[in-house]
Amino acid sequence: MSPTTTDRVFQMLPTRVRNRLEGCIDAVDVLSESRDPRVLRSLVPSGIRGLILQRAKRGVPTLVPSHHSVHFDWSYPNDHPKMRELYRRAKRAQWDADTDVPWNVSVDPFDTDKPILPDDYFEVERLEEARVPLSPHEKNQLRYSLVAWMLSQFLHGEQGALVAAAQVTEAVPFFDGKLYGSTQVVDEGRHVEVFHRYLHEKLGKVYPINDNLYVIIDALVSDSRWDMKFLGMQIMVEGLALGAFGALYRMTQEPLLKYVLKRVIQDEARHVHYGVLALRDHFQNNLTDTELREREDWAFEVALLMRNRFMADEVYEEFYAGSMPRSAWREFVSKSKGMTEFRTVMFNRLVPNLRSIGLMPARMRAKYSRAGLMRFYDGASADELTDERILSELDHVGA
Ligand SMILES: [Fe+2]
Ligand SMILES: [Fe+2]
Repeated sequence: MSPTTTDRVFQMLPTRVRNRLEGCIDAVDVLSESRDPRVLRSLVPSGIRGLILQRAKRGVPTLVPSHHSVHFDWSYPNDHPKMRELYRRAKRAQWDADTDVPWNVSVDPFDTDKPILPDDYFEVERLEEARVPLSPHEKNQLRYSLVAWMLSQFLHGEQGALVAAAQVTEAVPFFDGKLYGSTQVVDEGRHVEVFHRYLHEKLGKVYPINDNLYVIIDALVSDSRWDMKFLGMQIMVEGLALGAFGALYRMTQEPLLKYVLKRVIQDEARHVHYGVLALRDHFQNNLTDTELREREDWAFEVALLMRNRFMADEVYEEFYAGSMPRSAWREFVSKSKGMTEFRTVMFNRLVPNLRSIGLMPARMRAKYSRAGLMRFYDGASADELTDERILSELDHVGA
């Protein structure tokens, strides 16, 4: 059956049935990309909960089982000087989301003088190629909704980070890591606060969590192994977020969002640095070759999931579910110049960190190369970045 015929059959089905079927097909597509049975075992239960059952969209609360052990140490060792130093830096760098952010700045998401994103970022004209005529008002509305969708995913990612940081603080075997982790929990709470406030007070629109982002968060918070939580959150999700925040910081001309992103980026850089410190030694010294291969493959699958599947489906469902095939929407998102560049540039922080923690042997470099992501391989890893360098790169690279 050709895709066009499939689309036509899908359009004839009631929306609920169609969404459920599309979820199943998507889940099979995503999971069949993995050849490693251990990676499959890790992602399938989360894939079922996220893509098929859509747990995160079925009202409050979403309950995820978690099976990690809480690691206590009553001797309070000074067991990781670099983490202790990171803890000191984090204490000095705390800020208050109420008083340190200029919330009095008024934001107009339709202001063409200070656009949140450049006009050509989404190339909404491409939708017209799919025979979806848009009035100027509808184009503005769509751009505004896509911005709200993207920032909503940042918000939901931050909630995932808040919970994962708390779990990691419980499970990590380094005492200095627990002290450092306590600052990350506060940081993530503050990030939830600022993105939530920006979305509610300034944009007035919040989207539900994207199913694929949910799958990753579900997989890492339900995994019993502390290093998989670290890898999932501190390296993958936070690393991608750091790249995405940096790209958005350089693109936006809206001053309040720019300010918020700058503060958040400085915190996130410490979080990723912590992940690199914790995992580099562990991967080198404590894992078998098989265990290491599993982590290499898992990281690659998650990277692809984020790059290939982050398609603003929730915006499609709001505006076009009854009038346009989902495949046409995904074509628009995947070909839109700004979004394609964004989905690549967000790997600029992640790839050097994967190299630094030892998850980029030749076999993986070939895969990343085929995915077009090796251009970031020689970049600075999180432990090589100072606060000054992060800020100067933000204001100069790609500006
Ligand atoms: Fe965060
Ligand atoms: Fe973080």
